[in-house]
Amino acid sequence: MDKIISLCKRRGFVFPGSEIYGGLSNSWDYGPLGTELKNNIKQLWWKRFVQSRDDMVGIDSSLIMNPKVWEASGHLKEFTDPLVECKNCHNRFREDSLEETKCPDCGKKEFTSSMQFNLMFKTFIGPAEEKNNIAYFRPETAQAMFVDFKNVLDTSRKTLPFGIAQIGKAFRNEITPGNFIFRTREFEQMEIEYFIRQEDWEKYFEYWRKEIIEWIKDLGVDIKNIHENEISDKERAHYSKRTIDFDYDFPFGRKELYGLAYRTDFDLKNHFKEPPYKEEGVNAFYPHVIEPTWGVDRSVLVALLEAYKEEDKRIVLKLPVKLAPYKAAVFPLLANKPELVKLAKKIYDDLRKDFMVAFDDRGNIGKRYYSQDEIGTPACITVDFDSLEKNDVTIRDRDTMKQERVKIKDLANILKDKLNR
Ligand code: GAP
Repeated sequence: MDKIISLCKRRGFVFPGSEIYGGLSNSWDYGPLGTELKNNIKQLWWKRFVQSRDDMVGIDSSLIMNPKVWEASGHLKEFTDPLVECKNCHNRFREDSLEETKCPDCGKKEFTSSMQFNLMFKTFIGPAEEKNNIAYFRPETAQAMFVDFKNVLDTSRKTLPFGIAQIGKAFRNEITPGNFIFRTREFEQMEIEYFIRQEDWEKYFEYWRKEIIEWIKDLGVDIKNIHENEISDKERAHYSKRTIDFDYDFPFGRKELYGLAYRTDFDLKNHFKEPPYKEEGVNAFYPHVIEPTWGVDRSVLVALLEAYKEEDKRIVLKLPVKLAPYKAAVFPLLANKPELVKLAKKIYDDLRKDFMVAFDDRGNIGKRYYSQDEIGTPACITVDFDSLEKNDVTIRDRDTMKQERVKIKDLANILKDKLNR
């Protein structure tokens, strides 16, 4: 983890939040490269699960919803973690996160008895900080998919089975955030509420289980590092009748990466007095729901962990090409030869119309390769004196380090091929 955190800071993937003010505990800002990586993950997900399917539509809802939503969903009452306080140093912990009965900070063994702590972030709407004006930052994106169900249905004319998807921020006042971007108080989720007939729940639970696995493979994750964890009746969220967590072997232990839940008709029933779904010849009814859910930040973290390799003389991020922040980097062999710089800039400008491309003319070629390997750029393109005569360049592959001579006019297609592989 230390190596990943240091690479992230050094190369502009992720910085400590509010650093010049001494930071804000467990808050992180995505830098230029991290933002590209994170956006690539979200775009890949949106394309795969929304745009390329007939049975899915997307929404983008408000973060702050009517507080009645959280009453109906059960979050006001049930969305809690057990909290204990060390009697010696007064630091507080999630009871179920304590691996030993010792305080992780002072080593003493005396704790207060546990109490339930609600994880929702409270705020006030308008200037008066009064009880009537209390509102909450959403702790999951899911509720809007239920609350907007009828509006989506009426405007999209979907029939069962179909899903509503959303990507967005969620907020939880976690008692013990930590492990870099693994557990933070502000994070992003990619969620699907997949509406079905009750009798089909097992079939679609199985279906989404496989889809989650396929997605994990696309992130470049070795499936050996994934473990499905059937959550017991006692530990399941209040809305779920069956949950599987997809755990990953993080350097700090085996922990949840994604989740899959059968939420039944719990949420729609709590939000709608009348059954909201009607088909010809059948009485209106409450559809049931399968919910696959993905954390964006945890996706970024596993993509980095799996891609990070230390080889003989280099550090290389072997990210899937689709996720890499830059798809290519263009170098003039020598920075002080204007004719080389001019041609390299032209190639750079042409490729930039379709791909994220970097330009680098600092130091020698070896240093530039090193620098691009470290951020996962799949192709490095060098313009040399032969290029001026023959209209070709050297293209060097990140993973094999093989160099090839190719025509300048073929570069865009070569990059497209790499992206689709
Ligand atoms: N709508 C269901 C739901 O929110 P969850 O298991 O509580 O389920 C879904 O959260 C996903 O969100 C998790 O699998 C994880 O990837 C991510 N996640 C949850 N809490 C997080 C936190 N504090 N920091 C970062 N990611 C988190």
